[in-house]
Amino acid sequence: MRHLMSPLDFSTEELEELFDLANDIEQNPEKYAHACNGRILATCFYEPSTRTRLSFESAMTRLGGRVIGFSDAASSSASKGESVSDTIRIISCYADICAMRHPKEGAPMVAAEKSGIPVINAGDGGHQHPTQTLTDLLTIRSLKGRLGAFTIGLCGDLKFGRTVHSLINALTRYNDIRFLFISPEELRVPDYITDMLRDKEIPYEEVIRLEDVMPRLDLLYMTRVQKERFFNEEDYVRLKDFYILNSEKMELARNDMLILHPLPRVNEISVEVDDDPRAAYFKQARYGVYVRMALILTLLNITV
Ligand code: NCD
Repeated sequence: MRHLMSPLDFSTEELEELFDLANDIEQNPEKYAHACNGRILATCFYEPSTRTRLSFESAMTRLGGRVIGFSDAASSSASKGESVSDTIRIISCYADICAMRHPKEGAPMVAAEKSGIPVINAGDGGHQHPTQTLTDLLTIRSLKGRLGAFTIGLCGDLKFGRTVHSLINALTRYNDIRFLFISPEELRVPDYITDMLRDKEIPYEEVIRLEDVMPRLDLLYMTRVQKERFFNEEDYVRLKDFYILNSEKMELARNDMLILHPLPRVNEISVEVDDDPRAAYFKQARYGVYVRMALILTLLNITV
């Protein structure tokens, strides 16, 4: 039995197979419409989410399966003091596969140890968010035609953004990638990540102004300032509008640069950018469903 805790749990070859499957699902959805008949996905979300939870539900429903679950800790037995290990043992009796989001780093991993069914980490604190990373990689591969040989700018909250940490980790396995980290001093990417990049001799630069690097980027990954992980409101208010990507800044970008964003967006991308052909973030949400469909089939060992 296999779980997904980190994007590195799959080799790059396995990821290629997963993405080929996701692209085939996109092209031939009817072929997969009953692949999960009779199967149940449990979504155990101890932390708020709209798109991740709903995209899992959409994915399982589009495969013909059913979904059970809870969408916040207050409505689960966690509010009575039940441990994640006990909850997953029970869920294992009710469902065939589980997607879990938790505010504590490592909680889905603790669950996986006691689970009788595959567990998918749907975001653990500020740590990892592997299915968002699979979504990001599939989007890049589908729209750029390759993974590797590009300069990617990651902009915004690089300290608390788990999607950023997961994506950097995953991209280190591809060739010829240069990272440009664009953040205010207070929200710099954690040292353990820059240490890891230095060890692997992967080039990166850290800058504060987005305008300074815009013309060099093949991809721009925008992120929201992670309000819920701040210790005080004042810091959040000071930093929340540090970056606002608008049409004027987009004039500095290449014609084929893509803008990605895991969403939800707050103010960091003005709505006027949405109609720019380079804005890929809504397409990205669609790829998120295909890749989760492919992941569910793969972890359940279902071939169509
Ligand atoms: C992200 C998350 O939950 O980390 N959202 C998502 O899953 N698409 C990004 C965010 O909340 O900023």
